[in-house]
Amino acid sequence: MVLTTESLSDAHRRKWGGSSADVKVYRAPGRVNLIGEHTDYTEGFVLPIALDLTCYVTRSKNASGELRVVSENNGQERRWPSSALPVVQPMGDWSDYIVGVAKELFRAGYPVEPANLRVHSTIPLGAGLSSSAALEVATALALLDGRAIPALDLIQLCRRAENRFVGTPCGVMDQYVCVKAEAGTALEIDCRTLESQVVRLPEDLAIVTVNSMVRHELGQSAYRTRVAECAEARDKLGVRSLRDARMEQVDELVGVIQQRARHVVSENGRVKAFLQAESSAAMGALCYESHASLRDDFGVSCGELDALVEMARGIEGVYGARMTGGGFGGCTVNLMRPGAVAGFEARMRAGYRARFGVDPAISICVPSAGAGRQA
Ligand code: GLA
Repeated sequence: MVLTTESLSDAHRRKWGGSSADVKVYRAPGRVNLIGEHTDYTEGFVLPIALDLTCYVTRSKNASGELRVVSENNGQERRWPSSALPVVQPMGDWSDYIVGVAKELFRAGYPVEPANLRVHSTIPLGAGLSSSAALEVATALALLDGRAIPALDLIQLCRRAENRFVGTPCGVMDQYVCVKAEAGTALEIDCRTLESQVVRLPEDLAIVTVNSMVRHELGQSAYRTRVAECAEARDKLGVRSLRDARMEQVDELVGVIQQRARHVVSENGRVKAFLQAESSAAMGALCYESHASLRDDFGVSCGELDALVEMARGIEGVYGARMTGGGFGGCTVNLMRPGAVAGFEARMRAGYRARFGVDPAISICVPSAGAGRQA
């Protein structure tokens, strides 16, 4: 969903005053990952697209010496003397993303000026569509307010805000695609070299997310555990990262550590196979395999996500489906013939409602451009 500059600017002025010439609009997209899940923090490969679901941060100057921010999404407001931002402590809520980014900007030599901000995101929270990275990137752009920054610095600065201040040891995928995506394409990211290339998707392919409506907050501590388990597997194998491990080596590991490593090594292979696939059906088959691996070896799925994938499998015109994002709730991503979308929506809605008593939110993905100022 795309909001107009005029409506965002009007809402900003209703809160903070000023004229429309004073208000600037910055935007950053959510993302859906097609394949390459839980591979970014072991320097592997990922293939996300940016969505038209967007986090907007509007900005105007103020003369109070404060950074002030209001969130349209939860109605809360926060204020800090801008010079004190480097010493603010985490609150354990949404404002940590704002302060975390401000701190990293200070550290990187971009002091944060007093300003009024308003956050309005159309990305569902906790749905695995990267509302956090979008908030970080849109906030960074609003605080930079036109000061130039290399794209990779922006990406890494936002990731550090999340790693250090918010306390999630996430990889680089979400911030990267949020900044560098190009409309109409997916982005293959090498999470070691931090190089990427745009990937054209087949014409006959519709990408549809189905939200299980299970919020993935409880996955936070499990995410940390997975990152630690991957580090343990890496150390046992004596490789630089799991990116470098071969399946024969993984076979020598035992127990849970072996399962985690097997997922990562096989998933990196699936990203490469997906890029070389000659048909949408072949891509879809890789998605089903990815899901099975995330469920059985990596242990990050849940009953609702598994049910959504199984329901999709039985529907005419669907090539493949898998959970997407960190897991423990959130969305599945489904690849299908464009003509199959209407039937898919109806069947999934009815099937999920019958089984779980909840309406799943279903949306057709529009591969969109990376973050920037909205004119
Ligand atoms: C979350 C993290 C990403 C990535 C995915 C799983 O979205 O923020 O860095 O690890 O989970 O692929």
